[in-house]
Amino acid sequence: MKNLCVLVMAAGKGTRMKSATPKVLHNILDRPIIDYVLGCVVDAGVSPEDVAVLVGSGGELVEKHLRENFPKELNILWQREQLGTGHAVKSAREWWRNYKNLIVLNGDVPLIKPESLENFINEFNNDCTVISFNAQDPKQYGRIIRKENSVSIVEYKDASDEQRKIHEVNAGCYAFKVEALASVIDLITNDNAQKEYYLPDALALMNEKGMSTGAFIFSEEEMQGINNHSELAEATRVINRRINEKWLIEGVRMIDPDSVYISPDAKLSRGVVVMPNVQIWGRTEVGENSYIGSGSILTNAKIGENVQIIAYAVIENSELKNNSKAGPFCYIRENSCLEEKAFAGKFVELKKSHIGENSKVPHLSYMGDATLGHDVNIGAGSITCNYDGQNKNKTFIGNNCFVGSDTMFVAPVELADGAATAAGSVITQSVPEDSLGVGRARQTNIKGWSLLHNHLKKTERG
Ligand code: UD1
Ligand code: MG
Repeated sequence: MKNLCVLVMAAGKGTRMKSATPKVLHNILDRPIIDYVLGCVVDAGVSPEDVAVLVGSGGELVEKHLRENFPKELNILWQREQLGTGHAVKSAREWWRNYKNLIVLNGDVPLIKPESLENFINEFNNDCTVISFNAQDPKQYGRIIRKENSVSIVEYKDASDEQRKIHEVNAGCYAFKVEALASVIDLITNDNAQKEYYLPDALALMNEKGMSTGAFIFSEEEMQGINNHSELAEATRVINRRINEKWLIEGVRMIDPDSVYISPDAKLSRGVVVMPNVQIWGRTEVGENSYIGSGSILTNAKIGENVQIIAYAVIENSELKNNSKAGPFCYIRENSCLEEKAFAGKFVELKKSHIGENSKVPHLSYMGDATLGHDVNIGAGSITCNYDGQNKNKTFIGNNCFVGSDTMFVAPVELADGAATAAGSVITQSVPEDSLGVGRARQTNIKGWSLLHNHLKKTERG
């Protein structure tokens, strides 16, 4: 018989979220609530094969998420009807009966820290030990009723006015000796205000049988449950503070950390400066001494060292190599890349484009499906016309090319090394090495035109 398993309850409807999305899939920063709970369990040293998540309401979505994001050893169990937390634990009996000890966690407590959970796992010794905390505002949490040698729980909706005054509350996490739990689980009834089978009733039943019960006090910050969007926002604030604090200690500078949002999956390096109102999502990595200017949003971006992101840059699934520079106001997306010392400036969009070393796209340009060599200069307002209505076509611009302002590249088209285009050209044919492509109508000057024009205007007015 194995020693210990953890059951995470995530089958509830989450009615108070007022959302079609299952409660545990609501995001804190860019990861769902359930990921924080499971992350904590695994970091506390429990192997995924000894962990089960109980799904039910919206369970297909939860199951899909877990299958895609967690090791396949993680167990997923179903509670087909949601009749309360007591019923939830009972539905998983076939699984936990093979262990000596069972930890039950509410799926909606994402702030619990691994070191605290590990400590709890090592310390509990009653037939049931519940995690409690002293709440400033005890809201609708179950109240802890302490007697000399035992603990029981009364749900808020069933509590007397006197009991509601108690500030020590049930966090929704329990350690059970499996043998003890098995002897009371079938005795839990739904004879209460919510007509639900309450897991907390297990404690009173154990007390009646002379078994031992106790409460283990955690900090309030760690045990906040999430039942509505207000509590979700509060938990997000706590996680955000924890993540930013970690990076500040690691040597990242932020002048207003409360306005900066960093995914738990992102990695920053020392010397990085993150200015106010920045969001850094997904598996973004930022190398040493890079600067992320205000209002920038980075998602799965790979930022090298000494990169300057001036301000208001949106960068998605793209790479900016060492000493490159971007912004203000640019959009770099879909596997684009700025090689070393390359630059994408004001009102520039790059899509699936590769900008070679030391090449510059400084102003008002769209480069889509384009490959630029090194030391290229793209004049202001130049654009790749990459879409013909059916296909996306490629533009190749060789090394040391000089593109005049307002050039339209009608793709597929190519500029060989050292080629140039005249300003205002529509380039429909490839330009050979070291040549100038001119693709514009010749200018004609009509002498005296303005005088004639003004005269006509006057006579019109009479
Ligand atoms: C529960 C506790 C309460 C405690 C609070 C702490 C009960 C009866 N009450 O109340 O004492 O103070 O947590 O946050 O347990 N779930 C299922 N199946 C069900 C019902 C619930 O899996 O049939 C899951 C939910 O998905 C959730 C967890 O159990 O993750 C708790 O359910 P919730 O409805 O949030 O219980 P609370 O009212 O918060
Ligand atoms: Mg809850």
